[in-house]
Amino acid sequence: MAKLRIAVANLKGGCGKSTLSLNLASGLMSRGKSALLDADPQGTLEHWLKASVEGMPSVVNASEDIKKSIKSAESDFDYIVIDCPPSLESGHTKQVLDLVDLLLIPVLPSPPDLWSSVHMVDAVKEAQKTNKKLKSYLVRNQVESRSALSKAMRQAIEFCGLPALKSSLGRRASYRWAALEGISVYQFGKRGDTAVNDIESVIKEVFKK
Ligand SMILES: Nc1ncnc2c1ncn2[C@@H]1O[C@H](COP(=O)(O)OP(=O)(O)OP(=O)(O)O)[C@@H](O)[C@H]1O
Ligand SMILES: [Mg+2]
Repeated sequence: MAKLRIAVANLKGGCGKSTLSLNLASGLMSRGKSALLDADPQGTLEHWLKASVEGMPSVVNASEDIKKSIKSAESDFDYIVIDCPPSLESGHTKQVLDLVDLLLIPVLPSPPDLWSSVHMVDAVKEAQKTNKKLKSYLVRNQVESRSALSKAMRQAIEFCGLPALKSSLGRRASYRWAALEGISVYQFGKRGDTAVNDIESVIKEVFKK
């Protein structure tokens, strides 16, 4: 049985779901066997990620039958990270929310992005009625640490109705470069160090919850 099943979802496209999923799954590799499940019906992750590179998580295309994929990964892996599609239409995200222990919702620190994440909060509250163990946190992504707006957003964000992690992901070219090469920031050597620190903080904070 997996120690932790984590979904990364938001109805908003381009907010960093795949970036957070990949790097989280990679960071969890030093703590146990970890798998990255691609729940997007288009399921492209397995084609461009270099799963054979040391330290990369196993990448599983879970776009056909998401429930079955989670159940079968549970017996093989300690940690399962599920990268969800940016909609509720396929039903995949709802099924995932029924099965996981933890949901992370990446949000970009800009007001329009935050407003469009509000619908995700409704979906979470609905799922929590039946999945009583489901914990959910907003995770700020692409944060520019010196920006006054990023700081103000930290307070504004919880008005969505869900708690936000203190840890966040900075806006860093290394996330983009690593993804272009099909690897996580953990395989990116010194150039990935600051991004690795972001992800390690997220993992430590989540484990304390
Ligand atoms: N912290 C960051 N710093 C710099 N670039 C980032 C960061 N997070 C994400 N990006 C870039 O932003 C783009 C969108 O990110 P990503 O693909 O992770 O979003 P997504 O939510 O999975 O999108 P989709 O809804 O299309 O699946 C990508 O080019 C990614 O490399
Ligand atoms: Mg994605």
